[in-house]
Amino acid sequence: MKSLDIPLHVTGRSEFVDDIPVPEGLLYAAVFTSPIAHGIVKKLDVENALKSEGVVGVFTFKDIPGQNQIGGIIQDEPLLAEHHLAFIGEPAAVVVAESRIQAKTAAKKIALDVNPLPPITNPREAFAKGKLIISPRTFAIGDVSNAWKECDVVVEGRVDSGGQEHFYMETQSALVVPRENGELVIYSSTQSPTGVQRIAARVLGLPMHKIEVDVRRLGGGFGGKEDQATTWACLAALAAFKLNRPVKLVLDRRDDMKMTGKRHPYSSDFKIGLKKDGTILAYEVMFFQNSGAAADLSTAILERTLFHTTNSYFIPNVKATAACCYTNLPPFTAFRGFGGPQAMFVIESAIRKAAEELHVPACVLQEKNLLKENDTFPYGMQVENCRARQCWEEAYRQYRIDDIFKDIQTFNASHSLKKKGAALMPICFGISFTSTFLNQAAALVHVYTDGSVNVSTAAVEMGQGVNIKILRVVSRTFSIAPERVKIETTNTGRVANTSPTAASTGSDLNGKAAEIACNQILERLKKTASELITGSNPQDIEIRDEQVLLKGQQTGLAWDKLIAEAYTRRVHLSAHGFYATPAIYFDRSVERGKPFAYHVFGTAVVEVTVDCLRGTYDIDAVRVVHDGGKSIDMPVDRGQVEGGIIQGLGWMTMERLLYSEKGQLLTDNTSTYKIPDIKFTPPVLDIHFLENSDNSKAVSDSKAVGEPPFMYGIGAYFALLNAMQAFKPGKPLFFNSPMTPEKVFQYLYL
Ligand code: MTE
Ligand code: MOS
Repeated sequence: MKSLDIPLHVTGRSEFVDDIPVPEGLLYAAVFTSPIAHGIVKKLDVENALKSEGVVGVFTFKDIPGQNQIGGIIQDEPLLAEHHLAFIGEPAAVVVAESRIQAKTAAKKIALDVNPLPPITNPREAFAKGKLIISPRTFAIGDVSNAWKECDVVVEGRVDSGGQEHFYMETQSALVVPRENGELVIYSSTQSPTGVQRIAARVLGLPMHKIEVDVRRLGGGFGGKEDQATTWACLAALAAFKLNRPVKLVLDRRDDMKMTGKRHPYSSDFKIGLKKDGTILAYEVMFFQNSGAAADLSTAILERTLFHTTNSYFIPNVKATAACCYTNLPPFTAFRGFGGPQAMFVIESAIRKAAEELHVPACVLQEKNLLKENDTFPYGMQVENCRARQCWEEAYRQYRIDDIFKDIQTFNASHSLKKKGAALMPICFGISFTSTFLNQAAALVHVYTDGSVNVSTAAVEMGQGVNIKILRVVSRTFSIAPERVKIETTNTGRVANTSPTAASTGSDLNGKAAEIACNQILERLKKTASELITGSNPQDIEIRDEQVLLKGQQTGLAWDKLIAEAYTRRVHLSAHGFYATPAIYFDRSVERGKPFAYHVFGTAVVEVTVDCLRGTYDIDAVRVVHDGGKSIDMPVDRGQVEGGIIQGLGWMTMERLLYSEKGQLLTDNTSTYKIPDIKFTPPVLDIHFLENSDNSKAVSDSKAVGEPPFMYGIGAYFALLNAMQAFKPGKPLFFNSPMTPEKVFQYLYL
């Protein structure tokens, strides 16, 4: 069975926000934003915009009926700038006109007079000046300060990782339709329907029940629409509310790239100590997160960085400190991996440097220190069902990794201008929102009188296939044909108080909620069936392949008939299911707990060839053994692993965000910002799912798959370094991603 949306996508019939048939009287919005990264507003003059052709209204912070505040975790972000400007691209006014062009033309006529102030773009500078969102946090285990003297080798270094543009195919969009009595329906391309509902209510000064948010699907989110879809929905809602007319706001690609936040760039310092035999004894790290001009999700992302400090390794003495540093760049936000990749890049860098010092291949140190069952993470949780070594060993077997390294040596010995390199990348990723309260979901299931089924959950489909997974759970639980089941839009009126679809938990949480709802209906149906079959008990009834069985024997009673009978007997054919992940908690006062339901493991081997004349390179192969549990839908999981890998490769290699010292994004278009395409995709992309993997901690023994594979891409950086060192033996390593061809060239020749 194919992913539900694919036939619609390939025939161009799937509806995104900008495809919804326009309502009568629709107006179009355009946003006027700050042209400077830091400054004080002297005067904002909208007169010329108001007089511009087709313009119906121009709104600034003064027009906001409720609070001018969209901050989710920390309330530090105005919807529309007041007197202080904090980044280039910060919304300051919204212009509404009869056409999109008229709105954009008018927005250009707004005049802004400012007193510029010096901007900060570097997180270390922000840290030195005390510009922090929260006090730095530290996760610690063992005793690092005493452990150094036990070490035979101690190395230190610095690691920088760049940001990353989400490049969802559908840009940020919202359509807001006012209905009777001051109510609003918001169609938003958001991962967080409740987030949009809550913040729009706050901005407009309305109770949440006046606002309904509806989401059919997203043309990609990747974390970029977890918090940051809210701005555009609220701006459109403000205009629609003021004018009592429908308003649509769709960002074009360049505005989207300029105005919205991306993956956080990090700058980090590490110190790592080992025994001669390669055992890592101590690891100390300081992470400077470039958070941008508002908190957004930065504090939660920082927390996940700390949780993934040691990746897939056990280290007995760890001290990891992390700081959210305010800068004058657009607020950075969630992106697949949510701070985890940044931490993993640092520990992997530290291992490379230590390996060099010890004159051993990095994979020897990686293997030596892999997590084992019941090892303790620096946040106090013990590893259960640890599959780190199993994946590692399976990768060695499946892909003959020893041969790969030997072949590379042979190749490099006989080639002077082309060098190959390889690297292993084990991953360990915790599943659950680290804010425990978010680990809840609900589902509303209706069985109609013809036996067809309608399912609403809190999950948002963004291409990751959560809908097909939920559909399969429902069809299996009822044991009915998948064609009988339809997954509805995600709607705050049908399922309330939803957590964002994020942290890879979409199908874990919502699949379980749907299963719970189906089981409630199933219980009632069994009772009905036992009433219809004389002398039978509900516990002897089973529905299999749309037939009612009694003690395993056919009864001649079919699903449709049973439903029709149940309805006439006034049996309730709807149910609401609720699921909250059990037994997880985290105590931030001591930074200890069991925040994750389980961990996902895997090992990748990445092979590259560098053209040492030009500095260009090819990613030749990525081969993975991935611990995916029992897959609910194998093609979807495979697609998630492939997509995650390619996105991870892009982050490590070609995707370079460049800001000027004035805080201006210089790579704001496809001509300057490169994302992987089909030519970049490695010709060999082997994914082997660990056999006999189970997982009692998630629905149908499955495992979350959305984010973990992203981090396999980190291997590409080290494979490239490996090849570059073959050309320049002994030249010091550097850890500053992305490894663009320019950087490769500089390393080879400068
Ligand atoms: N896959 C596609 N095609 N599009 C997306 O936007 N988002 C990723 C991942 N895979 C994304 C995707 C991110 S950041 C997350 S957290 C998960 O999907 C969210 O969905 P899930 O919880 O259902 O896995
Ligand atoms: Mo994903 S970064 O948790 O939306």
